[in-house]
Amino acid sequence: MNSSEFTPINKVVFPAAGLGTRFLPATKDIPKEMMPLIDRPIIHHDVDEAVASGCSDIVFVTGIGKESIKNYFSQFRDIVDLLRERGKYEIADLVDKIHTLANFHYAMQEKPLGLGHAVLCAEGFCKDEYFGLALPDDVMISNPPVLSQLDAVRKKYGGSVLCVEAVPEDEVSRYGIIDAEEVEPGIYRVKDLVEKPAKEEAPSNLAILGRYIISPLIFAHLKKIKRGAGGEYQLTDAIASMLKEEPVYAALFTGKRLDCGVKEGWIEATVVKALEDPELRKIVIGAVKKSGLL
Ligand code: UTP
Repeated sequence: MNSSEFTPINKVVFPAAGLGTRFLPATKDIPKEMMPLIDRPIIHHDVDEAVASGCSDIVFVTGIGKESIKNYFSQFRDIVDLLRERGKYEIADLVDKIHTLANFHYAMQEKPLGLGHAVLCAEGFCKDEYFGLALPDDVMISNPPVLSQLDAVRKKYGGSVLCVEAVPEDEVSRYGIIDAEEVEPGIYRVKDLVEKPAKEEAPSNLAILGRYIISPLIFAHLKKIKRGAGGEYQLTDAIASMLKEEPVYAALFTGKRLDCGVKEGWIEATVVKALEDPELRKIVIGAVKKSGLL
């Protein structure tokens, strides 16, 4: 690839049309992506990360019952004016800034037919260019931000780039797993990938996390695949099909991933985020001491 032709990604797709069954009953009425992590929804943390990576346009794929995502990222004059009238300027500015973080676009997935199908719903926004894909459940803490890390690999090698992490063997069946050849420390050329393999059948323990840089060629492959694991249209199947035509790389994530899609992970994420804040840190440590439980 000629590096002078390289254009960094500026669009990121956030699939947010899933049912969130692992977090029921909380997600009966609140989209999983809108569950709070400290003082803002999980998906706001992800948007901040994408913006920090230099992205200007965010495409949310939403479904029925997900209207609060659009409301949250829209301008909300009434409450901002009310806050200002009451002299609460700092919080008013914070609330008023949300709709300016990026250009927000919305695509509808009528039925949650799988992650592959959700990505296909965003085709109209990304059909001609490489784009970022961020699964909101995974809140990623890293410097540089993770999409920048992946885009740096694309700049060097070209093709699509997946974000991977080594997981314990007992956990491979929860993830998409790559079969790959290391081309330099922490960077892999992907030979194949398989969704949620049994431990005995997993080609490695390198699990795909919720961040990707994807070639627009994916859309042709998303249209070709059949329903896969769990009866859903799987993104991994489309990537496996695409890599016969175009290279796919994977980069070992350097940073901390907080899996907010399950309650155990969400609790851990809340504690980790609270411990990062000097004031909240005191509260967490004080509460643990006071409880006498430890
Ligand atoms: P998950 O499988 O983690 O989310 O999909 P889910 O289906 O909502 O949750 P569970 O498994 O039932 O608990 C990863 C991301 O992809 C989105 C989800 O909203 C989530 O952010 N997704 C998944 C879609 O947008 N559409 C789908 O058809 C499936």
